Amino acid sequence: MVSLTADMSPLHPDRNLALELVRATEAAAIRAVPFIGRGAKEAADGAAVDAMRAFLHTVNFDGRIVIGEGEKDNAPMLFNGESVGNGRGPAADIAVDPIDGTSLTAAGRNNALSVIAVSDRGTMLDASTVFYMDKLVTGPAGVGVVDIRLPIGENIRRLAAAMEKPVDEIVVSVLHRPRHEQLINEIREAGAGTRLMSDGDVAGGINAARHNARTDMCVGIGGSPEGVVTACAIKALGGHMQGRLWPRDDDEKQKGIDAGLKLDDHVYEANDLVTSQNTIFVATGVTNGELVAGVRRERDYVYTESVVLRSASGTLRRISSEHLVSKWL
Ligand code: FBP
Repeated sequence: MVSLTADMSPLHPDRNLALELVRATEAAAIRAVPFIGRGAKEAADGAAVDAMRAFLHTVNFDGRIVIGEGEKDNAPMLFNGESVGNGRGPAADIAVDPIDGTSLTAAGRNNALSVIAVSDRGTMLDASTVFYMDKLVTGPAGVGVVDIRLPIGENIRRLAAAMEKPVDEIVVSVLHRPRHEQLINEIREAGAGTRLMSDGDVAGGINAARHNARTDMCVGIGGSPEGVVTACAIKALGGHMQGRLWPRDDDEKQKGIDAGLKLDDHVYEANDLVTSQNTIFVATGVTNGELVAGVRRERDYVYTESVVLRSASGTLRRISSEHLVSKWL
């Protein structure tokens, strides 16, 4: 049964906040337009960061960035710990990824998103000291069925049985990286197909968790911040997600331990990555993808498509907007 009480309290991130946040991801995507397919990933990211920050400060909430563009000294804007919002609404943790898929954007390839995730204050895991996380994401059929500790072949067989389809119809998305060579072989040996992503495992995870998607599972090692952002969306979709931090060396491992993170193959469940039951995830397409269409300029208008997911209601809301070019670019 859907609880409406969270929406009635101004103390929690609510549906109004979710809709307000879309303006910030739309702004980031629109400002990236001149850089899509132009080979300039830093310029695209910079434009998106500037736009997102400007809009975030107009939003009615007391936001604290848990996952941003890095540490204060290296990131002039949207740095970890920065306060955003006008301070008048609910106290919230916020994760921003003005463009997930900067290389995709620079190349004009599919699946780049502008993303914001929000949860109640103090509930989002700050995993920023360890760059990578090993992840396993499925839709609701995988809940209580798959487990990141099991061999991938076993997870594929279990998911196929739960979804009542043959193993050869299961499609698993993985970032196309040398570190995943063995994983990719094992997926294929188990009889499933692969969808190799050049970048963008936030979109990859969400696509795998959606009920009418072309992929059934998303696995492998990607960014830790992206893992926490993905968890906010997966909680709203009712899917399965687990993550294990994957330090690159002993130094990074020690930094993680010093920051209070659990390593040594500790498995974080979605509820550990974000402990709040009140999560919001908003994303606007930068380039075309299965989840949303990319931002598109045509004559006097710029068109955006966004999704808003809220765990309190379990709703995925799709928002199409038309913006006047003269106001933006
Ligand atoms: P950026 O847009 O920040 O470059 O991230 C893209 C991305 O593909 C993420 O989606 C993913 O989690 C991470 O990079 C993987 O890192 P790497 O490219 O180092 O394998």
